[in-house]
Amino acid sequence: MKHIVVLTGAGISAESGIKTFRDADGLWEGHDVMEVASPEGWAKDPELVLDFYNQRRRQLFEVQPNLAHRCLKDLEEDFKVSIITQNVDDLHERAGSNEVLHLHGELLKVRSCLNENLIYDWQDDLNFGDLAEDNAQLRPHIVWFGEAVPAIEEAISLVETADILLIIGTSMQVYPAAGLINYLPYGRPVYLIDPKRPQGTLPTQTHIIEATACEGMPHLIKLLRKKTE
Ligand code: OAD
Repeated sequence: MKHIVVLTGAGISAESGIKTFRDADGLWEGHDVMEVASPEGWAKDPELVLDFYNQRRRQLFEVQPNLAHRCLKDLEEDFKVSIITQNVDDLHERAGSNEVLHLHGELLKVRSCLNENLIYDWQDDLNFGDLAEDNAQLRPHIVWFGEAVPAIEEAISLVETADILLIIGTSMQVYPAAGLINYLPYGRPVYLIDPKRPQGTLPTQTHIIEATACEGMPHLIKLLRKKTE
């Protein structure tokens, strides 16, 4: 089976009702991204940050995977599919995808502020005073701006073995995620689904499908089937 590596961003969850980061004047659900997604924001106002992610976590229980998430699961019938997602939602998992690597953490996990390896599953609100077993405050298991991205090496290895790279709904502005494309072996096809072409240089062999994820995915599946016929 050919190996498709998929890089997803906020755009794939937009049609499920989760807002993207950069489509609304740089505001994310009404907040400056740095206020709620940086160690500085956490140091300045941890309660605001906890409240923000509590709202995001609650919202997760109100939304469902959409057609694009389900199409990625369907691709597993014909391809080995590895998903690298920048999203912190669990919509790929709920659609049934078997291999999902979260680059920027997960909303349904929390971790010790002092030990990044003390990670717990978490479905409820997280409050100030909720402690890990090392007695440190628990924080959202989210990779904030300025923090290392522990999963990046694994993501690079996946892209290095890809026969096809598929990019869906990311503005490709956040590194190191945006740099993953540089690890794709020379000449391998790239498909990109986004209603707006991302900034930056794309390989010449990029096939751009200018559409939303739910419009573009069925189209892509048809294209890939034609190629393998
Ligand atoms: P962005 O908000 O930067 O980009 C969203 C992309 O989705 C844009 O290119 C939109 O054109 C596209 N888009 C919008 N609606 C769409 C739809 N219905 N279907 C397909 N595409 C659509 O989000 P990301 O690139 O994911 O990091 O942002 C990367 C990282 O920046 C996030 O993981 C997050 C953020 O700060 C952290 O929280 C650490």
